[in-house]
Parts: sequence; structure tokens; C-alpha cells
Amino acid sequence: MTNITGFISGRGGASKSTSSQALHTWLNTHNHKALLIDFDQQGNTSYTYGLEVSNLPTMYHVFNNDIDIKNAINHTRNGDIINGNASLNKIEALYNADNYLEGVPKLREKLHEAGENYSHIIIDTAPKIQGMMATQVLVASTSIVVPISPDIYSIQGLARISQVIAPIKAGYNPDLRIDGVLLTKYNDRLVLNASLKQAVEQWAAQNDTRIYAKPIRESVAVREAQAKRDSLWDYASESNPSLDYQAFIAEYLERNA
Ligand SMILES: Nc1ncnc2c1ncn2[C@@H]1O[C@H](COP(=O)(O)OP(=O)(O)OP(=O)(O)O)[C@@H](O)[C@H]1O
Ligand SMILES: [Mg+2]
Repeated sequence: MTNITGFISGRGGASKSTSSQALHTWLNTHNHKALLIDFDQQGNTSYTYGLEVSNLPTMYHVFNNDIDIKNAINHTRNGDIINGNASLNKIEALYNADNYLEGVPKLREKLHEAGENYSHIIIDTAPKIQGMMATQVLVASTSIVVPISPDIYSIQGLARISQVIAPIKAGYNPDLRIDGVLLTKYNDRLVLNASLKQAVEQWAAQNDTRIYAKPIRESVAVREAQAKRDSLWDYASESNPSLDYQAFIAEYLERNA
């Protein structure tokens, strides 16, 4: 079975793209075959993978039957990826009030068409967690990872995640699992204060999930690698975030091998 993992957070800038890139590239260099879907209009991940972001088809074009999903896959040195750009904004209009229900399982259906070639499909999502695209991700995923940076806005975002997941589990995807909460951009000088930490732990317990043991530390190497359109592993394999992402991936693979 193909593992389909969506990276979701209730606020922007929580390291969804950085974390999905790290996982995807690592899998591809360690005998797993993984596909990355850039399902964010910003196209950040596609840019980092060296794609001509504005000229390539996206999942919108796949949904609109302009292109077969297998032909929308770009083969890069960091692995296979489907591009994301502003055309993804048209997905909301493609599935409007009349055919909303047709749109809900569309991502799942299309990923299953491509899935036979992959052990893992990773979805990098947009910051917005309401609406058609977010619903499609939750319906398509077998598990989700919730990256959060240690600040109060991220913690507030956790409550929104619970609200959107519950109806999806009840209506479309009963097996949907939150694999874990990943603390990102962690800085020893800015350690989560006790009440924030307690709030994350409480949320994890209520949502039957875990907090991955090792937070991802902050390092300028992450930004530098992305600016150079390089993978973190190639650019700074010994950096703190590289070491921390290895620990995350080991835990992730315990349940998503
Ligand atoms: N461990 C880290 N150390 C330093 N900078 C980081 C780290 N992780 C992410 N960043 C930086 O923080 C910014 C936000 O990260 P990223 O783009 O991965 O977040 P995101 O959740 O995908 O954001 P968005 O919601 O806009 O899609 C980026 O500039 C990225 O380079
Ligand atoms: Mg992003």
C-alpha cells in the first residue's frame, strides 16, 4: 500500500515545505520511491526543486483532464515531483456548489492512479486549512504530520486542525491518522514555555497522536539551501536540522514503512 502523508498546519510558515522536502528527498536516496505533490499555490517547493514553476502543469490541470497525472510528474535529481503554482487557485471554482462532492475524493483518486509506482506520496499543502484543497488532502491522506513552530499562533492553529479533521474522519476517511506533531524552528534560547508545551501535549493526547521526540532546530542552512535550490542533505548534511530530520524520519518510518 502506498503511504500518503499530508503536511498540514493551522498557520503559515510552520515548515510544511521544508519538512516535506526533507522527508521526500531522504526517502528517494534511501531505497524508497517517493512522489512529492506541491499542492500550494505559492510553489515554494517546486522552486526549490529547480522547476520552471509558472510554466508547468499542476494538479489543477490533472483534475481538469488537461494532462494525465503520470505525465505531470517531473523527474528531478531530488526525486519525482508535481509542480505547484497559482493555477491551483482554480480548483475551488472547478468544484463549486453543483459538483462539490465530485471534487472531494478527486486528489485521492488521482494519487491512486500514480501510486502503484511509489511507496510514499508526500503532499506539501497551502497554509489555508479550510476549503476544497484542504479537504482533498485530508481525504487522500493515510496519515498527516503537523509541523508547528513554538509560538502561540501555532498552538492556536492546532484547534483549527482538530475542527477540520473530525468531519473528514466521520464522513470520508475513517482511517485518517495524525502521525505526529513536529516541533520546528526550535531554538534553545526560545524554549517553549511550560504552558505552550502543556498545550501541545494536551492536544496530542486528545487527538491520539504523539510529539516526535526531537524538535527540528533552527539553522540558517535551511534558508541557504532553499535559496540555492538545493536539498538540505546535499547542502548541509551535518547541520543541526539535517540531524534532527533524520530522527524525525526514523520515527515516521516506524508507522509508515
Ligand atoms: N529549521 C529551520 N531553521 C531555519 N529556518 C527554517 C527552518 N525551517 C524552516 N525555515 C524557514 O522558515 C520559512 C518558512 O518555512 P516553510 O516555507 O517550510 O514553511 P511553510 O509551513 O511551508 O510555509 P507556508 O505556510 O507559507 O507554506 C522559510 O523561509 C524556511 O526557510
Ligand atoms: Mg510551504
